[in-house]
Amino acid sequence: MNSFIEKQEEYLKNKINKCGYNVNEVTLNISSRPEFGDYQYNGAMALAKEYGKNPREIATEIVESIKLDNKYKDINIAGPGFINITFSDEELIAHINELKENINLNYENNNPKKIFMDYGGANVAKALHVGHLRSANIGEALKRLLVALGNEAIADAHLGDWGRPIGLVMLEIKKRNPELPYFDELYNGEYPKTSPVTNDDLMELYPFASNKAKEDEDYMEEARVMTAKFQDGDKGLTALWEHIMNVSKTDIKRIYDRLNTTFEVWEGESDGNKYIPEMMEYLESKNLIEDSQGAKIINVAEPEDDHEVPPLLLVKSNGSASYETTDLACIWERMKLFNPDEIWYLTDARQALHFEQVFRAAKKSKMVNEDTKLEFIPFGTMNGADGKPFKTRDGGVMTLESLLDLAKTECEKKVLPNITGEERDKVAEKVSVAAVKYADLIPYRLTDYNFDPVKFSDLQGKTGPYLLYSTIRMKSLLKKAEEAGIEYKKYTKINSDIDRQVIIGLLNLRSVLTKSMNTKSLNDITDYLYKITNLYNNFYSNNHVLTEENKELQESWLTLTSVIYENNSKLLNILGIDVPERM
Ligand code: ARG
Repeated sequence: MNSFIEKQEEYLKNKINKCGYNVNEVTLNISSRPEFGDYQYNGAMALAKEYGKNPREIATEIVESIKLDNKYKDINIAGPGFINITFSDEELIAHINELKENINLNYENNNPKKIFMDYGGANVAKALHVGHLRSANIGEALKRLLVALGNEAIADAHLGDWGRPIGLVMLEIKKRNPELPYFDELYNGEYPKTSPVTNDDLMELYPFASNKAKEDEDYMEEARVMTAKFQDGDKGLTALWEHIMNVSKTDIKRIYDRLNTTFEVWEGESDGNKYIPEMMEYLESKNLIEDSQGAKIINVAEPEDDHEVPPLLLVKSNGSASYETTDLACIWERMKLFNPDEIWYLTDARQALHFEQVFRAAKKSKMVNEDTKLEFIPFGTMNGADGKPFKTRDGGVMTLESLLDLAKTECEKKVLPNITGEERDKVAEKVSVAAVKYADLIPYRLTDYNFDPVKFSDLQGKTGPYLLYSTIRMKSLLKKAEEAGIEYKKYTKINSDIDRQVIIGLLNLRSVLTKSMNTKSLNDITDYLYKITNLYNNFYSNNHVLTEENKELQESWLTLTSVIYENNSKLLNILGIDVPERM
């Protein structure tokens, strides 16, 4: 089954073929001039070139062949040969009734794929900070969009659990508590079951150690040794690492839960590590590894490069693995365990070169299939209200948690006064997540934006709270109708142009979803949600649904309301936004 527009395109294609023009594909575009039609077909110009004819002549032939169809209310030709199409009421009514039965019609997919996704970017033993917001929001929404469109998506949190930060934290724990058994190489007993550090400890330990290492070269060297020793599989340090992992992961998970960000797999850089030996053997067999000043590298530059692409550092001269190595090993692992069609990575643009090197090495060595797509999906930065990098008042890095709390304080003021206690907190939480996420997804993916909690939490305008409020109002209208015993099963009559605009708005969804998928940006969806909600709100204020005496009309209106409500809920869910019962 296909969406309404795809069915229309297929129908028109057959008609055009019958006119003697061979077309494989017909695209109907949303009309930029709604006064002339709902949709536009612009293919006559290309056909004119191909067949050496006047485009208007071709357009006229096409129009003649379909103008009596009951699918259309009006067909006209504009300019050199644009065909404007206005659908008939019967077609639109049938479609609304189909949607009432199955809201997923616009989401059909004939070519489902398996996509492995890597987003979030959390690092163990370090606080999630404002810079982690967009990867979580965009990654999660793209995943939900993929799944809504019938694809399979597997997301990996891919925790940073293997690098120097862990070494630094362990070193500082050792400095403060040298007596702990994890550091005693002769220790033979069992290691304690409870962690020697809490998450709060970690939040203090890492910045402390990291600052100290910047000032103190000896300390830094000790951290390097500690990191290497742990990566070499030292028993005590591994036991300590497991504690740090558990404590930190629990906290990371708690914050991702707040943001409705979920992962199918909670792996980390360390998991790729197990695959390094077999991957090395494979790369050796392909003769790709070169020695360079004691290190092992893979050359990934290409003669046609227009910028410098340095070799990928596979093994450092001190024998340890690099960030590139673990990412390459993770591709190896992902191909082996999941064999996806595509792997997507979401980090900010600064890691572009890193992924370019890794992807090239993966392709060059053929550890992925020729048609496996490896895709880097960068995003712009979120800045403070002044357009500068977001900082706390004392100039420190703002944690993601305090950012969410900031928005929550603002949103709490907007919640109805009669909602109190625990419910009030829950509602404020949901509204604030909607405010933050929606605002984060409004700009095109690569565009920077400024964080403004007051603006984002406004109940008016293009905001998450406005959409929640409007969607809840649709639901409560439906609930009141049910309580009054009013049944609504189908839409029977387009009563006014306002109704019609809402319905055409629904048709446009398909092209919005396609565009969003192509650009891998959610801005078209946030835009669409705002527009359709406004159209509906206009409909709502013009029609007194519950008191309407014409029963047929009332049933139509309620049916339309329920379709818009379902559709809004579905789109908000794709954006990772929950709708509270009331607010
Ligand atoms: N943890 C990394 C960072 O903070 C991001 C991880 C991105 N994913 C990857 N496979 N490298 O920079």
